[in-house]
Amino acid sequence: MPVLTKVADRDIVAAVPQVRRIHHVAYRCHDAKETVDWYARMLGFAYTNAFAEDTVPSTGAHDPYMHIFLDCGGGNVLAFFELPEQPAMARDPNTPAWVQHLAFEVDDFETLLAAKAHLEAEGVEVLGPTWHGIFRSIYFFDPNGHRLELACNIGTADQYAELQALAGPMLEEWSRTKRAPDSAKWLHVEPGSLSE
Ligand SMILES: [Fe+2]
Repeated sequence: MPVLTKVADRDIVAAVPQVRRIHHVAYRCHDAKETVDWYARMLGFAYTNAFAEDTVPSTGAHDPYMHIFLDCGGGNVLAFFELPEQPAMARDPNTPAWVQHLAFEVDDFETLLAAKAHLEAEGVEVLGPTWHGIFRSIYFFDPNGHRLELACNIGTADQYAELQALAGPMLEEWSRTKRAPDSAKWLHVEPGSLSE
């Protein structure tokens, strides 16, 4: 028996949503203008639009905000909130700084290296390129302390198929042991590196 519920004066049948893609992601920033300028200069993201109100639309709470939206390519949107009346933002003290991050894809390794040179010329400290087997990455922080990654894919169809086949068993093993399974160790060994 389908579950019927009334939503916006319509009878709706409950269903798992068929999500198309990420619509936007939103994080907090110290300063909206600084953030717009930094992302334009460092990564070429265009500032497309803003929402600014004194009241939060979803909750009705009083909380003046500036909500900015940046075009980060491929129809993807990165958004930020500046909240002048809230205490200064801080990082989760129990999560290492390398963990939570946003990764953006570039075409190839040449583009990745050129981006690193550009960022460093602008005074940004860059880590990498780091080898991940199916992609290579560089890492850096935005002015708000958000860790960013640029990555270029280098994997083969066989490698992606192997990883997909291993995904279930790796998760099962991790869930049971809480120790890193070594079944896809090749991912972390750069050809020609000392650790090979
Ligand atoms: Fe990542």
